[in-house]
Amino acid sequence: MTLPRINPLKTKSWEKLKNHFNKIKGTSISDLFVNDPNRFKNFSINFRGLLLDFSRNRINDETLDIFEKLSEEINLSDAIKSYFNGEKINETEGRGVLHTAVRNQSNNKLIHDGVNITEKIKTERERVFKFSNEIVTGKYLGFSGKKISTIVNVGIGGSDLGPKMVTEALEFYRNHLNIKFISNVDGDHIHGLLKVLDPETTLFIIVSKSFKTQETLTNGETIKKWFIEKTNKDAVSKHFVAVSNNLDKIKDFGISSDKIFPMNDWVGGRFSLWSSAGITIALAIGQDNFQELLSGAQEVDHHFKTAKFRDNIPKVLAMIGIWYTNFWNAETEAVVPYTEYLKSLPAYLQQSVMESNGKSVNREGEKINYQTSPVIWGASGTNSQHAFFQHIHQGTKLIPVDFIGFKNSLFKNTEHHKKLLANLIGQVDALMKGKNKDEVEKELKSKKMNKDEIKFLTPYKVFEGNKPSNTMIFEKVTPKNIGRLIAIYEHKIFVQGIVWNIFSFDQWGVELGKELADKILQKDNLKSSSSLESYLFS
Ligand code: F6P
Repeated sequence: MTLPRINPLKTKSWEKLKNHFNKIKGTSISDLFVNDPNRFKNFSINFRGLLLDFSRNRINDETLDIFEKLSEEINLSDAIKSYFNGEKINETEGRGVLHTAVRNQSNNKLIHDGVNITEKIKTERERVFKFSNEIVTGKYLGFSGKKISTIVNVGIGGSDLGPKMVTEALEFYRNHLNIKFISNVDGDHIHGLLKVLDPETTLFIIVSKSFKTQETLTNGETIKKWFIEKTNKDAVSKHFVAVSNNLDKIKDFGISSDKIFPMNDWVGGRFSLWSSAGITIALAIGQDNFQELLSGAQEVDHHFKTAKFRDNIPKVLAMIGIWYTNFWNAETEAVVPYTEYLKSLPAYLQQSVMESNGKSVNREGEKINYQTSPVIWGASGTNSQHAFFQHIHQGTKLIPVDFIGFKNSLFKNTEHHKKLLANLIGQVDALMKGKNKDEVEKELKSKKMNKDEIKFLTPYKVFEGNKPSNTMIFEKVTPKNIGRLIAIYEHKIFVQGIVWNIFSFDQWGVELGKELADKILQKDNLKSSSSLESYLFS
């Protein structure tokens, strides 16, 4: 047993939070600003050029003090030590959780299962860099002597979402390589892509920790068949690479041993972009930028381990999230990055957050009677303003929002960038302040509307306000800042899992659907039971 088993509802702090909630629930965020002229300063964290403004939340000093006590009561600091030391905190699978180790670039020893894994990690990383440098510089040639110009990442879930999100996010730092992602088992998608690929200049990277995933293996086989038809069997060894923990299965697939990059079972799929599973990122942005990505995350690891509670970005964000989920009954959280480059961040976080903390059994095997992970959703700003912000402003649900912004534009385009940031600030402000009846009536009067028109329109134009948000502002979109951003969310997930007394690092809930799909595919069952099956397969 490596993690504490403490029911959060039975702690003194939880009881205090309940009372505190009743005390504070009638106070608006705007009131809190009036009561504390230094609120912005007191409720924000500056970490090496990154600002987290969490002042626009339904919290005060007491809220944070109680949450700090809660973190002590549930032994959060010991849990953090177990996490970073590689203890087997993924207890249901008997594994350590060491994505923090694969991004650590120091030479400090880390013994896991009796082995110093620092050396192993270094060697694996160097192999990834050596191979990707050869592709990027054009030293590596395909079977017909041509340079590689296109990379296809074949993987799903953590073997797709992280590499895809980061590759897109760091588009500005990309080299000449054309990067594609295939994840879904949708044959139309893969055949559409194959139609435009040149086998002589394309490298396929099959990423699958288990090398058992139906989607990835089906796509891999389809690609291999197409490739052999266009070329010859021997050419496969030059154009297929595998990243996996299942070395035997890769060999069965026919990938040559110098093209195999191992993944370790102590790195979870949804946290694996820092490891060999991030080879597509290294190819897309090059070694130096990949190292910057790692060092950004590593900075946050250090911050998370050492910063005091009130200055600790992941801890504060985690507790604010719990506050809304468990006390205000918020069911979802929206993530809205104000850069098109991060348009896939919500999808990435959907897996990392919900696959980790979408659980309903505690660490003692009991069904729990409180809420865990919120539903994560979102899209890039300003597009989301013209899609779902109506609901956040005037709908019936409480939806806390994380706004993510960047002070400077990459292309130094001040005109657009000012507008982009003005929109971010406008939304954050509007959510908090709202617009009351008097303000609406005044505005309508100034538009020369008559009394009846004003009476009719006013209720529709009132904004309640008091909607909570966090805002994270980074200098600009850089590999380091993207590394920091991802690591912040990873540690937020960890803290929440510890508080909720659940196992965050397994994902048994995805297994049943996989099993049933496999059964349905077995011939005899195709004609069988459900009417949907007979309709689809008749
Ligand atoms: O969806 C379940 C899952 O196991 C994820 O956790 C994982 O990221 C994904 O499938 C892909 O798994 P693999 O890398 O083993 O193909």
